[in-house]
Amino acid sequence: MYDVGYHHITNIDFSETVIENMRFRCKDKTEMSWIVMDVRDLIFQDESFDVVIDKGTMDALMCDEGDVWNPKSEVVEKVKKVVDEVVRILKVDGKFLYITFGQPHFRHRYLERSCWKIKMEKLDPDLFKPRYLLMQVEFSERQ
Ligand SMILES: C[S@@+](CC[C@H](N)C(=O)[O-])C[C@H]1O[C@@H](n2cnc3c(N)ncnc32)[C@H](O)[C@@H]1O
Repeated sequence: MYDVGYHHITNIDFSETVIENMRFRCKDKTEMSWIVMDVRDLIFQDESFDVVIDKGTMDALMCDEGDVWNPKSEVVEKVKKVVDEVVRILKVDGKFLYITFGQPHFRHRYLERSCWKIKMEKLDPDLFKPRYLLMQVEFSERQ
């Protein structure tokens, strides 16, 4: 993204090791910021981002969901709180792009909100391995 012109990017992970390694690997991309932060406790202000992208982080939170058909309620609540935070920090015209290796019917329940609509797209398996699904969320009527 940086290389095609998107420079104002804030990257987070709760692992200091990940953040330090990524900061080092991207040291030539000087306008991006790298912050150690738990996705369940975002410190960003309301309506401060145009786009939020998650690739695999909410999937990580779902690792111990148990039966995928009937996930543990604490896992559902935990992930829904993350999505609530995404809603909070997105601007009114903002978009949430969730890239997941999960199947759509198992992931849909976590994203459903009355304020937005969800579009799903399978990413080209020749470009993205393992197989990834993109769930794109746009506000329809923000309260
Ligand atoms: C599957 S990896 C994806 C990493 C990266 N997005 C990518 O696509 O290469 C999941 C990442 O989520 C991070 N993670 C897991 N739980 C987190 C949390 N509660 N807050 C922030 N990061 C978390 C892990 O440290 C790990 O780097």
